[in-house]
Amino acid sequence: MSDGGGVRAGFATRFGFIMAAAGSAVGLGNIWKFPYITGEYGGGAFVLVYLACILLVGLPLMYAELILGRRGGKSVLGSLRALIKDSGEVGEDVATFTGLMAVASGFLILAFYSVVAGWAIHYFFISLGLITAGATGEETFGAMFANDWVEFAWHTCFMIMTITVVARGIEGGIERIVKRLMPILVGILVLLLIYVCFTGGVGASLEFLFKPDFSKLSADAFMEALGHSFFTLSLGMGAMVTYGSYVKDDTAIVRDGVIIAILDTFIALLAGVVIFAVVFAGDAEPAKSVGLVFMSLPDLFVTMPGGQFVSAAFFLLLIFAAWSSAISLLEVVVAWLVDEKGLARPVATWVTGGLIWLLGIVCLHTPAVFDFLDNLTTKFLLPLGGLLIAIAVGWLVAKDDREAGFKALGDKGDLLALGWTWVVRIVTPVLVLAVILSGFEIFPWQQ
Ligand code: PHE
Repeated sequence: MSDGGGVRAGFATRFGFIMAAAGSAVGLGNIWKFPYITGEYGGGAFVLVYLACILLVGLPLMYAELILGRRGGKSVLGSLRALIKDSGEVGEDVATFTGLMAVASGFLILAFYSVVAGWAIHYFFISLGLITAGATGEETFGAMFANDWVEFAWHTCFMIMTITVVARGIEGGIERIVKRLMPILVGILVLLLIYVCFTGGVGASLEFLFKPDFSKLSADAFMEALGHSFFTLSLGMGAMVTYGSYVKDDTAIVRDGVIIAILDTFIALLAGVVIFAVVFAGDAEPAKSVGLVFMSLPDLFVTMPGGQFVSAAFFLLLIFAAWSSAISLLEVVVAWLVDEKGLARPVATWVTGGLIWLLGIVCLHTPAVFDFLDNLTTKFLLPLGGLLIAIAVGWLVAKDDREAGFKALGDKGDLLALGWTWVVRIVTPVLVLAVILSGFEIFPWQQ
């Protein structure tokens, strides 16, 4: 199948699609961010709120995106345009604005995402003993952070890894890689879990993650959980629309959405169990900051039996998770250029990838730019994209298209479709709007 004009390319198998979508969802968000925000907001109660957010906001939006992609059959902008073309000029404007914003989000997120993925590669080589570490995790991180050349080298390496996969297209590039990557990723995680069962701390870890202490729950925790439910499921920027568009069959949307969300949640929780087991076995405190994975864990790994290998396995896990997510971020932009602008895939991929690589260099050199892009995208652009997609699918897309995925389920499907429609029309937009507003710190409890 060809990319660009002619027959549109797609995934060869449903397994390939699920692995790609789950690979997009499972990323730094699951293994790096979820554990530290859980630490920050006190464990169990936060996990409970997070699960509720996945169910109430994440899953409904996941359906909205998959439906857009499968019924629209194009990149995020093209699919939106195709499905809301009957809503007049307003519909057209909403489609254009939402589509372009989604493409921009993919571009901006990948720039700093790749820098963090580069850190994971650096740590992987440190674990193997090929690069010398500092005396403590903090020193190791500090030395890397202070040396632009080191960050530059790994960021470049990671971008090339990502570009070469996307340039080869869906079946021959993305599907081929993710269907190997994801099972290995789960395998590494299971091995790590078995390992910590021997080294201890699992009981304490489970208690920390699953025993809710509601006194620790703040309004901020709700907002963080809500915001993270977007990021972790790759929602609000068209990744699921784009991947969804490479699958022809629109009857399996409900099932696919559930599988992707469950895989993502399960892997985040599993990573949490492993990480906190290491923390508690080492008598450390669950670190409350971004340093958990890159500063605290390395210190703990070295004290463990075979720690060097465990550490290497852990950072390999992080690299694989980031890689399959980065592929989807780049694919959103490339699909837009291929579908809408008629560019050849390799050209679109190398040019976009090159520009993102340049922006990544600015990020690693200027931490303020890094922070700005991180905040702009996760606190603002993704929620806004999600809000618009929910409104577009809930109110502007024709009923037939909207409910296509539920039809296959018979009477149960009708009921599900009705419930889901009102959730995407009202509940999701209201909750998402709250996240956006909280980003501007306007609520009384934020004063
Ligand atoms: N879901 C990815 C993660 O958890 C991040 C991501 C966001 C990837 C948006 C693609 C699109 O790390």
